[in-house]
Amino acid sequence: MLDSRQVTASAPGKTILFGEHAVVYGKPAIAAAVDKRAYVTISKREDHLTHVTVGDLGVSGFLDLKNRTIQLENGSGMQRGILEYILKALIKAKTEDSVEVDVRLDIPIGAGLGSSAAVTVATIMAAASFNQITLTNETMANLAHQVELDVQGAASPIDTSLSTYGGVIYLSKQPQKLVKLEIPHELPIVIGYTSTRGNTGELVKLVRQKKDARPEVINPILDSMEAVANGARQAIIKGDHKTIGLLMNINQGLLDALGVNTEELSKMVFTARNQGAMGSKLTGAGGGGSMIAYCPGREEEVVSSINQFERAFQINVAHEGVRLEKPRN
Ligand code: MEV
Repeated sequence: MLDSRQVTASAPGKTILFGEHAVVYGKPAIAAAVDKRAYVTISKREDHLTHVTVGDLGVSGFLDLKNRTIQLENGSGMQRGILEYILKALIKAKTEDSVEVDVRLDIPIGAGLGSSAAVTVATIMAAASFNQITLTNETMANLAHQVELDVQGAASPIDTSLSTYGGVIYLSKQPQKLVKLEIPHELPIVIGYTSTRGNTGELVKLVRQKKDARPEVINPILDSMEAVANGARQAIIKGDHKTIGLLMNINQGLLDALGVNTEELSKMVFTARNQGAMGSKLTGAGGGGSMIAYCPGREEEVVSSINQFERAFQINVAHEGVRLEKPRN
């Protein structure tokens, strides 16, 4: 019998505004969901196989949900990573073999916008709905974080929380301290990104090694990052552009001190400031990847200057987190 069930869910990517790296040690961070989404469609297959296509990455493969194995069909070993998140997300949502999974990404690849977390969260929601299971947002965020921990080894819940809840979130290690910030204005943010990608796991390890070797030097830096994030929380709520910019620049200096900045990131950071951004810093793990610039009224100038040597675009906050999409006719 033909089974016509088909479910699509989508979830937004994110950018970290304040507190990356420090968040790994229980310090607060502030991040915003961005209006670029991952779309995951799940439908029934007539055979007993599970097949996934991520067209935007040129990756496809067969998953064996029972034995937890992946057979790559197209794509390189490096791109196989995304299939691991999908495999684990399908299992968490109690999926059995015989499904077709199609992933579409609006999120630019390699821009540090948390595409793997967005894919994971959207897969959990689509699969749960396909399996007629209702999950709360809290459960979805927790399951997605477990998937990230399984695949990456170490991760704070920041990416998966943003993809689940959307908006702008202040997060510390205790889940009860996840606070959605009500902002009365759009955040004028530009993202710039290099083609060089940092390895998050390695960079987190590098900071941990420094902290272990020189706690008397690194701990005060992490404490300053905490003070920066707490000050920024108040400034964002008030829409105090000047303070947001100032704290972003201080956060950049502190991240540089941890050793995760690069020359390419610095070039974009200073270009943005020279074009009138009130603040700019690397975002995410560093070591390549992306930066953000806070530039009220100067977005176009900042985008076009960075675009002369790297890639940049303006983002808006995605106020809605993970959601089911209406079936297309
Ligand atoms: C990476 O996007 C952010 C880090 O703080 C790591 C994490 O929070 O898992 C560097």
